[in-house]
Amino acid sequence: MSKVKVLFVCLGNICRSPLAEGIFMQKLRLKGLDDRFEVASCGTSNYHIGESPDSRTIVNAVKNGIDLDHKGKQFKSEFFFSYDYILPMDQSNLRDLEKFRPDNPKAEVFILRTFDLLNKGADVPDPYYAGEHGFQEVFDIIDRSCEQLLGHLIEKHHIELNKLF
Ligand code: 4NP
Repeated sequence: MSKVKVLFVCLGNICRSPLAEGIFMQKLRLKGLDDRFEVASCGTSNYHIGESPDSRTIVNAVKNGIDLDHKGKQFKSEFFFSYDYILPMDQSNLRDLEKFRPDNPKAEVFILRTFDLLNKGADVPDPYYAGEHGFQEVFDIIDRSCEQLLGHLIEKHHIELNKLF
């Protein structure tokens, strides 16, 4: 059975999108669905290629029970064909992605907070210049959005939940 391929995108790929990747993968593991999905993240910029996530993001993620294992990557046009879903964090990322968009892409593109029941379609704020409070707010937003996103994909792709989980 082919995997559902999901790509989270932000600007630097050191704060929001690697966190979204880690949170989404944790949800998959908890539901026993990690073999049904392929999950990745990248940035629209080349600022942090090869770097680990921001130390503040790592600390906040650990506080919330998530270990991040990621190195910064930049978005490439070909990802419009190799992923099924591309989830930018904000409108600025969405505009930047347009510059990479080929004709007839395979991927569907949704701002991540399309799936946030509390503030549908809003931006995930960039925590890079924020304090600890900003990082926890971003964690909560991404966590809520990923929960709904996963529910949506399970339903759309008729994925059966393992009764053991
Ligand atoms: P991210 O946050 O897009 O959530 O990874 C940022 C990280 C780095 C920079 C901007 C945003 N930067 O300008 O270096």
